[in-house]
Amino acid sequence: MPQATLRRPRRLALAAIAAATVAAFGLATPAAFAQAPIVIKFSHVVAADTPKGKGALRFKELAEERTKGRVKVELFPNSQLYKDKEEMEALQLGSVQMLAPSLAKFAPLGVKEFEVFDLPFIFKDDAAFRAVTTGPVGADLLKKLEPKGVQGLAYWDNGFHIMSANKPLHAVADFKGQKMRIQSSKVLDAQMRALGAIPQVMAFSELYQALQTGVVDGTEGVPSNFYTQKIYEVQKHMTVSNHGHLAYAVIANKKFWDGLPADIRTILEGAVKDSTTYANAIASTENATSMDRIKASGKVTVYTLTPAETNEWKKALMPVHKEMESRVGKDTVAAVYKAAGFVAPK
Ligand code: LMR
Repeated sequence: MPQATLRRPRRLALAAIAAATVAAFGLATPAAFAQAPIVIKFSHVVAADTPKGKGALRFKELAEERTKGRVKVELFPNSQLYKDKEEMEALQLGSVQMLAPSLAKFAPLGVKEFEVFDLPFIFKDDAAFRAVTTGPVGADLLKKLEPKGVQGLAYWDNGFHIMSANKPLHAVADFKGQKMRIQSSKVLDAQMRALGAIPQVMAFSELYQALQTGVVDGTEGVPSNFYTQKIYEVQKHMTVSNHGHLAYAVIANKKFWDGLPADIRTILEGAVKDSTTYANAIASTENATSMDRIKASGKVTVYTLTPAETNEWKKALMPVHKEMESRVGKDTVAAVYKAAGFVAPK
């Protein structure tokens, strides 16, 4: 048989296979490949209507708009996908691509230095906290996440903790025997013990029910979380103590982040930067508004510590700094003291 007659049917057969492949997978041309969006699943444990929830939404809007749809960000608030511990594991496994956990939840990853942020009364105000996170100490801490497969991107502030219980917590003695829910931080555990309370680590999503059923008596938290989780319905007293600080690290799965096309990564870094500015700008007013709403509910008595009471709490809590120094790292504690302008109370 002449060669030409063989070639033609073979070419036709190849074309038919290509057409069948396109039909089966719906992938017509290289241009269509480029249009398939990169999906970022961003999971978190708080309500959408909180500083973190709103910061995440801003990130989504900026990322999608600036990449012209090449990136799609799916938000999963309120632990609807994962609880505290599970979300960290999911990030490392690549089941989700981004999170913004509280800094008190990083030790289980093996980076205990993050617990420095939980030392009681270490930050006198938001500016002291930001002096740490926007400087070299903050950057060094985020770098420590990389060997764990986690890319640290930014810090989001959420203000100061208050205490809540079903009895007034004014003097240190009032904590005696109170079962208090804490995040998974050994520093917070030591803090509650130093006050005479019994700490209990629990996922944020379980808090409301645990308070309602009396599994725990009280907790510490920020007004935006107390309001959106309706904690004021299941607690009788809150104490504005500003003894601790709540903030988040926005993090990504490192392999995913490194594998992004360079132009997309640059745009996303910009979106993180601008949503960080936004989240940090709204945190304090959002918490103040939540505090007003909690008070307006009439369901809870809100008390502010006097300076003398604050001093008593400080006296009881300062030993926690020394006690936790070896866990958190002496150098880390010293570096944070310096950057925050911490002065030990007399
Ligand atoms: C908590 O568990 O109390 C907080 O970390 C929740 C949050 O993310 O604000």
